[in-house]
Amino acid sequence: MGIVLATSGFAQTTLKEAFKNDFLIGAALNEAEFTGQNSNVAALIKAQFDTISPENVLKWESVHPQPNKYGFAAADQYVEFGQKNGMFIIGHNLIWHQQTPKWVFQDDKGNPVGRDTLLTRMQDHISTVVGRYKGKIGGWDVVNEALNEDGTLRDSPWKKIIGEDYLLKAYQFAHEADPQAELYYNDYSLENAPKREGAIALIKKLQAQGVQVAAVGLQGHYTMDWPTPAQLDETIAAFSPLGVKVMITELDLNMLPAATQSQAAEVSMNFALRAELNPYTNGLPAAVQQQLAQRYADLFAVLVKHHDVVSRVTFWGVTDGDSWLNNWPVKGRTAYPLLFGRNGQPKPAFNAVIQTSKVLQTPQKPR
Ligand code: GLA
Repeated sequence: MGIVLATSGFAQTTLKEAFKNDFLIGAALNEAEFTGQNSNVAALIKAQFDTISPENVLKWESVHPQPNKYGFAAADQYVEFGQKNGMFIIGHNLIWHQQTPKWVFQDDKGNPVGRDTLLTRMQDHISTVVGRYKGKIGGWDVVNEALNEDGTLRDSPWKKIIGEDYLLKAYQFAHEADPQAELYYNDYSLENAPKREGAIALIKKLQAQGVQVAAVGLQGHYTMDWPTPAQLDETIAAFSPLGVKVMITELDLNMLPAATQSQAAEVSMNFALRAELNPYTNGLPAAVQQQLAQRYADLFAVLVKHHDVVSRVTFWGVTDGDSWLNNWPVKGRTAYPLLFGRNGQPKPAFNAVIQTSKVLQTPQKPR
């Protein structure tokens, strides 16, 4: 996708400034970043991003660890950080099969609960969490990762116990709790045709049932060769006729050697650390740095091309040191998936991304 990279010097602009005519640009934050413990990175976030997502603090296990026991201390600070800085605040996520405590699906004796009990728990959770941040959180990942790679519905405890209409119920409860909030469907590997077809069918079904799905989230846990720019392009084009926006919600580029053939961003995967899987413990060679920059530029060129459909691009983390990819799917590696290095300095990839923005490509009219 022929973007030519400048090899020296960094753009003097910021991400949010560069993409202001294209889409919101964001990052997922950890607790140290929004509570002020990590003030250097907090300053970087305020300067560069106009939307934020919570890495963990709004997941079920964090806000609702035990029956009848909610804990909002960290989530409140996350939301306050976004409000103070005038950012579009994302809620992530309400219904998922991971990071949800076992008790949610069990009775006192450890047996599976019935449909009605689980629906009551779901409604209580969604109305409490969404209700608390009504008017503050602008959009919610209502259901995360409901699909299998072949596009069929994942046999999660939600589906097993409630049935396929658990999705409809989740969106209805969320809408009742905050009618103004945007409601999203979020998943990985939607760039692969079978899973994408499943997502299209799922969204069409929800729409036919009266749910307004504002956007589909492509998580964007990408590698150096997947998805191809053409695959990303056709994915965005395929969702657009549904009348939903497309967002990249968890963008990062895993450029370490593959530990598995699988492209699935399945969080439960875990492979043993071997030296050949961790080649850059002393820094990234310049040539590899440049490949990463080019890869980011190629993907952003597609996103900018679709700026009318793409409403948001969010990175999963701010600096390389914070990324979950240092520990997934192999624990203890040195990963370089983001635009800012461990010291918070912009990498060549930052400059490469900035150069794809329309603002910079539109010649300024002489005054
Ligand atoms: C999934 C989830 C995120 C996060 C990442 C890995 O993509 O949606 O919340 O857990 O995995 O960090």
